[in-house]
Amino acid sequence: MSQKKIYKIAIIPGDGIGNEVIAEGQRVLEYLAANSNEKFGFEFGYFPWGCDYYKEHGRMMAEDGLEQLKAYDAIYFGAVGWNDVPDHVSLWGLRLAITQGFDQWANIRPVRFLPGVPSKLNHPDIEKLDWILVRENSEGEYSGFGGRNFSARGAGKEVAVQSSVFTEEGCERIIRFAFDVARTRSRKKVTSVTKSNAQQYGLVLWDEVFKRVSREYPDVETEQWLVDAMAARFVLKPETLEVVVGSNLIADILSDLGSAIAGSLGLASSANFNLEGKYPSMFEPVHGSAPDIAGQGVANPIGTIASGALMLKHLGLNHEAELVDRAIEETTRQGKLTPDIGGSSKTKEVTDAIIDNLSQLLVQQ
Ligand code: NAI
Ligand code: MG
Repeated sequence: MSQKKIYKIAIIPGDGIGNEVIAEGQRVLEYLAANSNEKFGFEFGYFPWGCDYYKEHGRMMAEDGLEQLKAYDAIYFGAVGWNDVPDHVSLWGLRLAITQGFDQWANIRPVRFLPGVPSKLNHPDIEKLDWILVRENSEGEYSGFGGRNFSARGAGKEVAVQSSVFTEEGCERIIRFAFDVARTRSRKKVTSVTKSNAQQYGLVLWDEVFKRVSREYPDVETEQWLVDAMAARFVLKPETLEVVVGSNLIADILSDLGSAIAGSLGLASSANFNLEGKYPSMFEPVHGSAPDIAGQGVANPIGTIASGALMLKHLGLNHEAELVDRAIEETTRQGKLTPDIGGSSKTKEVTDAIIDNLSQLLVQQ
């Protein structure tokens, strides 16, 4: 007799629209589980961490937060940040505390151009564009080494040092992962992005590791680009991109650019993997808490729902992940769009349409 598999998911909605979009993502997951013919189900744990929690408790998450999260198969995260708590406090206190605490060193951020979404790019083959950013997620510019001093010398005399840390091991594991991702695609190509002309230590080490690792993947085409030229190439020659790998800061910035030219930051999904499986991995939209639209019910839920699809795939539910991606495509093709991508639908209406399309896809199979 087959047994229903239960996945334990930790839900951290966070702040602002994080709450609105995570609720929608959870609705899609619940729908899939309810219609899985007893194949699988979810047990959700709810963690109300974020800026409100900080104002009450003086910290962004419970002191034993990581210990609590360890018991879960995956983490589904909204967004963190609100105007009454400094951004570096909220980001380091929650999101980076989890990615670093759980050594979620591999971040993927697919750039997808969906049908029916007015793109910001003037490109003849817009619907064929599809690439994936692989971001080093544990060190580099976000290592957190540095300090501030000398404020006692008087106004205007303070000094801040922020060091980037690149380890050979850290470069190697993310670059190797990028090559492995490239091998799953029909055009096998990895482009490494640095700024090693100016950053002559850390990023030169990165370049050297890239060259060394690439020799083990003779079937994969390679390129090495500088980030300023790559920013232009995202806009001018996006059809040449497949897998783009970069350091923490570089790939973070490029991923916002990618999702913006695909239509909106609200469309972009991401996964933070601890690929050894020692700790849970975390799935979240790329965007932040968007205080400018929070509470209006108009946030685009697609980035979060697509992140849910990445989570399903990670849990081994590949078919269900594919169905969610197809339901998203069908929904934008039908013109069910939130205001950020030129429509007038509300957050919940877009999710309703995605679930409706899912139900049709489930009937067809
Ligand atoms: P943001 O991503 O929150 O918003 C940037 C712009 O994109 C805004 O105009 C917003 O309305 C729009 N936008 C974002 N997501 C959208 C969606 N789903 N649907 C429709 N429009 C959407 O970035 P911002 O304004 O720089 O940061 C706001 C707060 O979020 C800050 O506190 C920041 O630190 C935090 N943040 C948190 C992140 C995380 O938790 N992973 C990532 C980025 C920012
Ligand atoms: Mg970002």
